[in-house]
Amino acid sequence: MVRLRLAVLFSGNGSTLENLFEKSASGAMNADVVVAVSSRADAFGLERAGKRNVPTVIVARKSFTSVDAFSDAIYAAIAPYKVDLICHAGFMSMLRIPKEFEHRVVNVHPSLLPSFGGKGFYGHHVHEAVLKHGCKIAGCTVHFVDNEYDNGPIIAQRAVPVLETDDADSLGARVQHAEREIYPAAIQWIAEGRIKVVNRVVRVGS
Ligand code: GAR
Repeated sequence: MVRLRLAVLFSGNGSTLENLFEKSASGAMNADVVVAVSSRADAFGLERAGKRNVPTVIVARKSFTSVDAFSDAIYAAIAPYKVDLICHAGFMSMLRIPKEFEHRVVNVHPSLLPSFGGKGFYGHHVHEAVLKHGCKIAGCTVHFVDNEYDNGPIIAQRAVPVLETDDADSLGARVQHAEREIYPAAIQWIAEGRIKVVNRVVRVGS
């Protein structure tokens, strides 16, 4: 089994990044975060990475006029770290995926895709929409990232109940708890070389 070198991309609080640090340190995930990249200069995730002595890079989305220019800057920033896998962790910008990074970029999304995905569906917006529709289950999805929002091959999903007493915060907390388990687990499957993508469907081998 290889020990994966991860670049983690985020835009805000960074609790997903924190969870990856924890799972790496505990040995639950055979992977190390070798660089943390923020699309915003004020993201709290930068402090979390600093505390762990992990190199940080700010590639501010607002400094670029196109997805291509922004993506080029991200790939240039992480090139010295020779990463195996890029992990989105509350990364709220579009990243172009070139051929060499196909099936090497993963994301965790707070819904059971393909429901409640696509532009505008992120964070609490997802949970508010789930409640508005009166869904009885919600959940989260880990998927490979392709060149459309929330569209790439699905690696893992976890369902959670929606309770009548829920608001977006309580539902979001339950979904995030599930994210904390399935995201590092999916990265571990990749480290173990168990993932194959056949006709855009992910198969997890033993
Ligand atoms: C993640 O937990 C995930 O649910 C959501 O943002 C949160 C980021 O929290 N991701 C998306 O909506 C992706 N479309 P964090 O900044 O504390 O890690």
